[in-house]
Formats: sequence, C-alpha cells, structure tokens
Amino acid sequence: MDNIELHNDLTIRDYKEADYDEIVRFWLLTDMGNPERGDSKETIKRTIELGGKLLVMESKSSKQICGTSWMTFDGRRILLHHFGILPECQGKGLSKILLRESLQFVKSNGAQVKLEVHSTNIKAINLYKKFGFKHLGEYNVYIIRDVSNL
Ligand SMILES: CC(C)(COP(=O)(O)OP(=O)(O)OC[C@H]1O[C@@H](n2cnc3c(N)ncnc32)[C@H](O)[C@@H]1OP(=O)(O)O)[C@@H](O)C(=O)NCCC(=O)NCCS
Repeated sequence: MDNIELHNDLTIRDYKEADYDEIVRFWLLTDMGNPERGDSKETIKRTIELGGKLLVMESKSSKQICGTSWMTFDGRRILLHHFGILPECQGKGLSKILLRESLQFVKSNGAQVKLEVHSTNIKAINLYKKFGFKHLGEYNVYIIRDVSNL
C-alpha cells in the first residue's frame, strides 16, 4: 500500500457511490463493517437524501481512502458513526482533522449530535471528550436486527 503524505496530501470530501466497495473494505478493516448492520449502498444514499453526510478523507495522490465519518440525521438529532482512520494512518492526529470537519457539518445543521462508543475504546473516548462530547450515563444499547417476525 502506498504511503500517504500527511496533511498537504489529504483532502476531505463527500462520499460518492464509486467509493462504496473501498469503503466496505475499510469498514471491515477497522471493525466497523459487520454485514449485519445492513449498511448497503442504498442505505447510504437514503441517509444523504435525508440530510445526512458521509465524509471521506482521501490521499490526493494515491486516492486511497484513509478515513470516514458518517453522520445520519433523523430530523431531531445527528448520529455520528463509522468514524475511523485506516490502521496504518492512525496515531498521527488525522482523526482530529476529520472530527473537526464533521462537527462543522453538525454546526451547519444545528441539531444535537450523539454517538455510541464501546466502553473499552479508550482512544475514541479520549478523542470524543477532547471535542466536547459528554458521557450521557450508564445507558445500555438495544436493537432488533430482524424485523421480519414483528
Ligand atoms: C479512534 C480513532 C478514530 C482515533 O484515530 P487515531 O488516528 O488513532 O488517533 P489520533 O492520532 O488522531 O489522536 C486523536 C486523539 O485520540 C486519542 N488517542 C489516540 N491514541 C491514543 C492512545 N493510544 N491512548 C489514548 N488516547 C489516544 C487522543 O485523545 C488523541 O488526541 P491527542 O493526540 O491530542 O491526545 C482510530 O483509532 C480508529 O479508527 N479506530 C478504529 C475505529 C474506531 O474504533 N472508531 C470509533 C468508533 S466509535
């Protein structure tokens, strides 16, 4: 894999459909791509149509995707998820650049922003706290994945 020249070679742009396959590989690599989550091309498109945004951090020279930040909007709040940096690019401060840009989108929308992070993910927790996220309390998270029997 090509080295990514940092900062002056990086750009943050909106997701485009042609990114999908690379993004799916990226999400698998960063443990954000469980197929059960149902993050299809159509789902991404729908969330963008509903006022969300999927930001992609990319190397201008190699075109390699090195970060993603997906913000979905339900009309009330923004949920920040699939926020990650390619393993070989981690530890260089890139997440702060991507999160800063993500929060500009949040600011322009004006809604509150929420996220879920595993309690053992210390790097991400430190990052989010640094940018002003406050722990909401000891909530557990529940989901119904299979709605066919409802
Ligand atoms: C979480 C993640 C985005 C952080 O990106 P990164 O490139 O590793 O981190 P950065 O170098 O940009 O550092 C950003 C901040 O993270 C925190 N951090 C980074 N490495 C850390 C470590 N080893 N220990 C504790 N905190 C750490 C610090 O607060 C740091 O800010 P600082 O350097 O000013 O102190 C990245 O590790 C990642 O993509 N992980 C896999 C996907 C993931 O778990 N995403 C979050 C889902 S909720």
